[in-house]
Amino acid sequence: MPEHVLVIGATGNIGVAAVKAALNSGRQVLAIVRNQASAEKLYKHVGSSEGIQVIEADVTSDTGVKSVVDQVKAGKLPAFQHVYTCVGGEYTNVPLKSITTERLRKNMNMSLEANFFAYRDTIEYLQEQNHPDSTWTICTGSQGDMAIFALPAITQGPLFSMATAAARENEKTNVRVNEVYLMFRVEVDEDAAQHGVTSSSEFAAVYEGILSNPEIRSSRVRVASPADIKDLKWAKKY
Ligand SMILES: NC(=O)c1ccc[n+]([C@@H]2O[C@H](COP(=O)([O-])OP(=O)(O)OC[C@H]3O[C@@H](n4cnc5c(N)ncnc54)[C@H](OP(=O)(O)O)[C@@H]3O)[C@@H](O)[C@H]2O)c1
Repeated sequence: MPEHVLVIGATGNIGVAAVKAALNSGRQVLAIVRNQASAEKLYKHVGSSEGIQVIEADVTSDTGVKSVVDQVKAGKLPAFQHVYTCVGGEYTNVPLKSITTERLRKNMNMSLEANFFAYRDTIEYLQEQNHPDSTWTICTGSQGDMAIFALPAITQGPLFSMATAAARENEKTNVRVNEVYLMFRVEVDEDAAQHGVTSSSEFAAVYEGILSNPEIRSSRVRVASPADIKDLKWAKKY
C-alpha cells in the first residue's frame, strides 16, 4: 500500500504543487475539495486524476476535516501518513480601514481557522498510526511580515505562531511538523506562464525535498527565491 498525503486546499496554486510533489515521490493523494467543479480544476492543473482520490468537505467548517478523518478511521477512505495544508483567503490590497467586519471574519475563517482545523483534526490520527516518518506541513507567506497587502498579511500572522506551536507539540512524536515560508509568487502552470511567475510544477520540489529528508523537522523552510526550491534552506524557529 503506497503512502498517502492528505492535502487540504489541494485545488489552489500551492495545493496543486503539493499534489504534484506527492505523486512525483510515488505517493498517492487524498484531496479535500469543496465540490466536483473544484475536483475537475485539480485534475486539469495536475494533468491527470491518477493517484488522486477526492473527497468533498467544507474545510472552513469545524467539522469538515474531522468528517474526512472519521471516514478514514472507519476504513471508507485510505489511511494517510502525511498532511499538507494551504487553504488561503483573498489575495487583495484592500487597505485596513476598508476591511469590513464580515470580510475580516471570512478571511480569518479561510486562513487561520481552516488551517487550524487541518492541524487539530488530523494530528492525533497521525500520532496514533505511529508511522516512523509522518509529516505535517503548512505553507505560509512573507506577506505576513511585509504587509504590502494588509488583508492577506494579517491573516497570515497567526499561522506563523500556529506552525511554531505545532512544531513544539510534535518535537518528540513520529510527526515532522514544518512550515514552508514562501517569499515570492507561485501560480498554477497555466497562470504562471501568463504572469511570468514560478509555477506549481516547479514549486513541487520543495515538498518533495521535505518528504525525502528526515532531518527537516520542527523547522521553517525559507524559500526566498526560485534558487531555494531545489536547494532547501531550513532552520528551527526556536
Ligand atoms: N501562491 C503563492 O504565491 C503563495 C505565496 C506565499 C504564501 N502562500 C500561502 O499559501 C496559501 C494558499 O495560497 P494559494 O495561492 O494556493 O491560494 P489559492 O490558489 O487561492 O487556493 C486556496 C485554496 O483554498 C481553498 N479555499 C479557499 N476558500 C475556501 C472556502 N471558503 N471553502 C473551501 N475551500 C476554500 C481553495 O479551494 P477552491 O479551489 O475550491 O476555491 C483552494 O484550494 C496562502 O493563503 C498563503 O498562506 C501562497
